[in-house]
Amino acid sequence: MADFAHAFARRTRLRGGDELTTILAGSPPGVLSMTGGFPNPATFPTDEVDEIAARLVREDAAVALQYTPCEGIASVREYLIERQEQVQGRRPERAELIVTSGGMECIALMCQALIDPGDTIAVEAPSYLGALMAFGGAEAEVIGIATDDDGLRVDVLAERLAAGLRPKFLYTIPEYQNPTGRTLPLDRRRELVGLCRRHGVLIFEDVAYRELPFDGASLPSLWSLAPDIALQAGTFSKSLFPGVRLGWATGPPEVVAELSAAKQNTDQCAGGLGQRLLEEYGRAGGFERHLPAARALYASRWAALSAALKHHMPEGVDWTEPTGGFLTWLTLPDGLDTRAMRPAATAAGVAYVPGPPFHVGDSGRNTLRLSFSRLTETELETAVDRLAGVVRGALEQRASSRAHPV
Ligand SMILES: Cc1ncc(COP(=O)(O)O)c(C=O)c1O
Repeated sequence: MADFAHAFARRTRLRGGDELTTILAGSPPGVLSMTGGFPNPATFPTDEVDEIAARLVREDAAVALQYTPCEGIASVREYLIERQEQVQGRRPERAELIVTSGGMECIALMCQALIDPGDTIAVEAPSYLGALMAFGGAEAEVIGIATDDDGLRVDVLAERLAAGLRPKFLYTIPEYQNPTGRTLPLDRRRELVGLCRRHGVLIFEDVAYRELPFDGASLPSLWSLAPDIALQAGTFSKSLFPGVRLGWATGPPEVVAELSAAKQNTDQCAGGLGQRLLEEYGRAGGFERHLPAARALYASRWAALSAALKHHMPEGVDWTEPTGGFLTWLTLPDGLDTRAMRPAATAAGVAYVPGPPFHVGDSGRNTLRLSFSRLTETELETAVDRLAGVVRGALEQRASSRAHPV
């Protein structure tokens, strides 16, 4: 058989492991999965989608089933412009917004449009593994900036910039961050935009979970605070559904124009049916009708997970306290390795994502990410009980290997 290994591009070796493939493949039967940031199917507005999709095919096939302009269908962009004004308090100009095929595509477009091999990109440490893989594949030098309970340490970024760091952009997820679930407070948002303005650093703001605060309240987005230096990637994957790959990019016109041009080399345009469906759904008030119930569902799931963690986890295990989104981040006692624990977890019937793929390099071995979006409250309790058993097993193993070193 022919061997094509020599033909594969360098980036195939640079983009990182297969963790995303593992997440998207799902867990085996019997395993309670807390892996992917998947929305709960109970939040999918199936009746409305059924009615709108049928109507579009019947009455608007020439647009909905056709190719669309790279930057999106004009009426859809107009709707998204209005929606930005409604939910983020600032109305982008037409040249400041395009439709994308979801958040991940915007990350890919940013790589195409801005990253030359060897360029420096700054990210939160830890950060979204899909973005880290994309930046690695684009041959960027990715620099992790420390975070704390309030997200990005803007003071640390300031020190790095003062010391000469010159990133092409800073990639940040200001609310309910992936993987930590943390949110950047308002004072740090203001400091961050001031700092980046002074140094001429583009902020790449990923707002994937922004519309899912547990209590319905949101802080101003970085883009709304500084549209001149912030490029925002949004997605409808979490607030509507990911089955239609759809999102937006909004920011400085010259950056948006480059992203739109780069789209010629990805999918050329987001699917017309999904675009029109989103527009019809949104204009009919779908988000206002359905988001409150979705927020309440995720809030109740977090309450159940939080209670289960408090009840079951052994001493020395810490976790973050998200105020929205799907994710919490666990730190286990030193010396535990969440990748090495995974077979025991699968055998016990529970799945999580180990921490290292969210880090530049190989740190975070004693960390892991849990998603609470998809399991029921009872399942979350069982899943945490199982996970706590695995952690206790690893702690016992660590104690006995310390007592009897080989
Ligand atoms: C922070 C973040 N950005 C982007 C994405 C990808 O979004 P999309 O499904 O719209 O490509 C995700 C998905 O999990 C995410 O968590």
